[in-house]
Amino acid sequence: MKRIYMDHAATTPMAPEVVEAMKTAFVEIFGNASSLHQPGLEARAALEEAREKVAELIGAEAEEVYFTSGGTESDNLAIKGVALAKRDRGRHIITTSIEHPAVLEPCRYLEGQGFEVTYLPVTREGLVEVEALESAIREDTILISMMHANNEIGTIQPISEAGSIARDRGIAFHTDAVQTVGKIPAKVDELGVDLLSLSSHKLHGPKGVGALYIREGTEIESIIHGGGHERGLRSGTENVPGIVGLATAAELAGANLEEDMARMAGMRDRLAEFVLARVEDSWVNGSRTKRLPNNANLGFSFIEGEALLLRLDAEGIAVSTGSACSSKKTVASHVLTAIGLRPEEAHGSLRITLGRENTDQEVDYVARTIVEVAESLLAMSPFRKS
Ligand SMILES: Cc1ncc(COP(=O)(O)O)c(C=O)c1O
Repeated sequence: MKRIYMDHAATTPMAPEVVEAMKTAFVEIFGNASSLHQPGLEARAALEEAREKVAELIGAEAEEVYFTSGGTESDNLAIKGVALAKRDRGRHIITTSIEHPAVLEPCRYLEGQGFEVTYLPVTREGLVEVEALESAIREDTILISMMHANNEIGTIQPISEAGSIARDRGIAFHTDAVQTVGKIPAKVDELGVDLLSLSSHKLHGPKGVGALYIREGTEIESIIHGGGHERGLRSGTENVPGIVGLATAAELAGANLEEDMARMAGMRDRLAEFVLARVEDSWVNGSRTKRLPNNANLGFSFIEGEALLLRLDAEGIAVSTGSACSSKKTVASHVLTAIGLRPEEAHGSLRITLGRENTDQEVDYVARTIVEVAESLLAMSPFRKS
């Protein structure tokens, strides 16, 4: 059976160029980047070249890029690291109610350590209101963390407006850009951020690698102590092949960004329109306009999203019902309930996230199959009105 993968918000297949670059790195660049001999110097050179490529994609200086083990670690370093560095000046943090657990859980951890956290609500479209952010700011606010785009519903937040508010008040501003880097423009100066998290496996790079951008002058403390790698901020021998893979993925994404965005948005809209026109009581979750080009999150009344997912999987189609991390839980997604869906509505959602290897033919096949499966599930539904 031909398999079609449309769950790129969970992870992406590695680009062939990334695999090639990593193969070479695994075999030929085995040195420890801290060693002073030739193999060590070669590893250091590969590491610094990679840092420049990643910096270029986000419009940063190479020295402002710190390699980590992925999005989760970058978020933890940003949030805990800034909180530790600024704890004598204040203990209030602002974030949003629809962040990924990689942001929510460090915030909850800090609450247990005597910090206070405000979780901003979002509108029906999943957008944070800038006025709500402004009124949540207090004298003791030290950090604002607001995701660039949501991993479930794809809503793109007003980051540059929030960034200018944070800058005017002298508050450190972090964005989790794991879902946007390599998919839409995410330049640190345009966004006005002090810290930005990214993850390699969301942009056709390998898993277990990521980076945190830290604007020069931002106060931050290390949360992993050891040999002082990454300029003392993140100890641990650098994963050179993984980092080379991330840099190759970053280069590819940057070169094709505009083209990929337009193609992806066209496929997303065709898919959503086809399904919505045919399946009764179906809708789009999130904003129609401020949305990632590759994300279609569809809601269905009287259908269990999980049942849809499994039937589609049996047809060779991989999609998701929410974030991959919560797909084994039976609780309704915190994102879908935050935008005001009732739990039964939240359970009837399907997230289809496209990637650059998807084709128009695949989109048409997936759209037709979703309609067929949804109709057959509706016909069996005991909850349907008529
Ligand atoms: C918005 C967001 N932040 C953080 C993460 C965690 O990234 P990683 O899997 O690299 O730890 C993810 C992954 O699903 C994500 O979607």
